[in-house]
Amino acid sequence: MRRRTFLTSTVSAGISGSLGASQALAEEWKGRPRSAIPTPALLLDLDAFDGNLRVMAEQCKKTGCGFRPHAKTHKCPEIARRQVAAGALGVCVATVPEAEAMVAAGIRGVLLTSPIMESGKIARMVALAGKEGTVLLALGHARQVERLQDAAAAAKATVDVLVDLDVGDRRTGILPGKPALELARRIQKGKNLRLRGLQAYAGHASHTVGFERRRKVSRQALQPALETRELFAQNKLPAAILSCGSTGTYNIDSELKGVTELQVGSFIFMDVDYRRIGGKSGDVYTDFQPSLTVLTTVVSTTHPDRVSIDAGTKALDTTVPHRGQAKGKPHLSYSPFGDEFGSVTSTKEGKLPAIGERLEFIVPHCDPSANLYDRIYAMRGDRVEGIWPLAARREFHGGT
Ligand SMILES: Cc1ncc(COP(=O)(O)O)c(C=O)c1O
Repeated sequence: MRRRTFLTSTVSAGISGSLGASQALAEEWKGRPRSAIPTPALLLDLDAFDGNLRVMAEQCKKTGCGFRPHAKTHKCPEIARRQVAAGALGVCVATVPEAEAMVAAGIRGVLLTSPIMESGKIARMVALAGKEGTVLLALGHARQVERLQDAAAAAKATVDVLVDLDVGDRRTGILPGKPALELARRIQKGKNLRLRGLQAYAGHASHTVGFERRRKVSRQALQPALETRELFAQNKLPAAILSCGSTGTYNIDSELKGVTELQVGSFIFMDVDYRRIGGKSGDVYTDFQPSLTVLTTVVSTTHPDRVSIDAGTKALDTTVPHRGQAKGKPHLSYSPFGDEFGSVTSTKEGKLPAIGERLEFIVPHCDPSANLYDRIYAMRGDRVEGIWPLAARREFHGGT
């Protein structure tokens, strides 16, 4: 099946929840070896994935904190189902199409962490909110409250809402304290809105290098969020939820009394960018294992100093300064060589791979890497266990 045909069928299958072409393809592929997979391809090591999910679930169980993993990392209904089966409260999403894909796949408790302003998007979220507990929206401005209230009233729906706080990364949200309290009061006045609490994502803390520094940055960021939650309580405003955290701070934020859930994303896949931030012990962040790789093939060995592989900027993400790392071959270095190709060099002591050899790369940054593909080969050891559609990629949903 050609790539685009597969894409069309799997996206529609994902949205409608129908079993269709994607499942037939998965059946056909089940049990096949890695060597049969056409490259470049996105692979998931299920043992590492299961282990990562277990670590997060255990940390949350131990600390009494919930988790609502961010599905923008994977956009994959099957992964979301497995996260919920492991104890997640639902999933977070970054876009309306992601929310629609997750709800269509049967996921409930879908938190849209990004603010939205356009009436079309607001109407689509209100349509999803039809059934209680299906979706939550994070709002950081009075205009957003007004628009959502109007849309919910028109649809005779009730929508669950969090106040989105800006706790230092200056991206979205309202400032903690009084401004947040005022916004919460506006929400409370909205007849079709139900205030549930707060969101406080500290993006500037997540990748802070060094555990102690990271803890300090995260604690500083979250203190105003904790205080705002108390302020809500003092003013008899509902604040059952305080959603925050990231893969880098999961074992920092979950220990804080008052944080009720983590909106962690990358932990299921990991990437080169996250590995370098360091853990409680050591310079490499090893709490979670890299489970997401791109499988490639050496297609040219003309020159003695390097080889070319079939994975360029369209196959291996370039949004971070770090490059993909060849799994099990630390002597090799990758750099993109245009859209379709990559260049691989070796240290003096190492050996360059031969023509036709397969190389597997730990991805530089997981979210944009998954976004480059329409499917993921779920591998158990060397065998394909499933092919999972990655739904709601931006270009198929009118740029939302
Ligand atoms: C709003 C929000 N929440 C949570 C996350 C998840 O963070 P991570 O992938 O670092 O766990 C992100 C990531 O960018 C985010 O933007």
